[in-house]
Amino acid sequence: MSIYQPERAKKVTTHQLQAMKMRGEKIAMLTAYDYSMAKILDAAGIDVLLVGDSASNVMAGHETTLPITLEHMIYHASGVVRGVERALIVVDIPFGSYQGNSREALTSAIRIMKESGAHAVKMEGGEEIKQSVERVLSAGVPVMGHLGLMPQSIYKFGTYNVRAREDVEAQKLIQDAQVLEQCGCFAIVLEKIPATLAKIVTETVKIPVIGIGAGPHVDGQVLVTHDMLGITKNFAPRFLRRYAELHEIMTAGVQDYIQDIKNKTFPTEKESY
Ligand code: KIV
Repeated sequence: MSIYQPERAKKVTTHQLQAMKMRGEKIAMLTAYDYSMAKILDAAGIDVLLVGDSASNVMAGHETTLPITLEHMIYHASGVVRGVERALIVVDIPFGSYQGNSREALTSAIRIMKESGAHAVKMEGGEEIKQSVERVLSAGVPVMGHLGLMPQSIYKFGTYNVRAREDVEAQKLIQDAQVLEQCGCFAIVLEKIPATLAKIVTETVKIPVIGIGAGPHVDGQVLVTHDMLGITKNFAPRFLRRYAELHEIMTAGVQDYIQDIKNKTFPTEKESY
C-alpha cells in the first residue's frame, strides 16, 4: 500500500531539485520510455523521469545503448511528455549526436526540446564534452551531466564494472563534476562508482547528484524502471533493488488468457455484443 502523497499542483523544476538538495530532501528518479508507464510513474509521485538511452536495451533489445538514434529518443520522449503532469522530464542525447561537435550537440538538444516537449537533456562525459555542454546551455536548455560508468563509452571501458576505484580516475571524476557544475549543469548522474567517492562529489558540488549504484550519500537515486519492477529477468547487479516481480505476474496473466481461449471460457455472453 502506497503512502507517498506528492503535492499534485506543483510541477517539478530544476530549481526545485536544487532546493531539495539544500533542505536534504532526496530526489526520486526513474526511467520511462512510453506514455502508459510515464502516466503511472508520474501519478505515483516520481520527481524526475529520464527518457534514458537504455531504451536501446529495454525497449529495442540491443546489447548496448549505441544503436539508438535521435529520432527514436524523440519518439520515446514525446509519449512520456503526453503522460506526465508533474515530473521533470530529462532526455538522453544519444551516442553520436553530440560528442565531437558542439554545433551538432546544440542541434540535437533543440530537436529534442522542440519536437518532444521535454524539459532538459542529459549528456555523458566531463571535460571532453565541455564545449558541447556549454553550447547547449547557451541556448537555455538545462543539462544534466553523467559521470562514472558511461554506457555510451562501453567499448572504451571494456566492461560494465564499477568505475573510478583507482585514484587517478577518481580524481578526474571529481574534477569533471566541478567542470559540469561550473558550466551550469543543473544536476549530475553518477553511475556505478564507490559510495565514498560519490559522497565526496556530493559534498564538493552544490548541484544535486543522483546516483545509480553510487551508494546512499548522494542527493537522489535513479533506477531503470523495468529492472526495479522486475519486468526484465536475469539482471541482478548488487545495486538493484526489485520492488515488484512483474515478469511473473505478467506471465501468469498471459497464461490464464491463453488457457481461457483454449478452454473456450473467454469471451462469455456477458463479454459479447
Ligand atoms: O539511460 C539510462 O537509463 C541512464 C540511467 C542508467 C541513469 O542513463
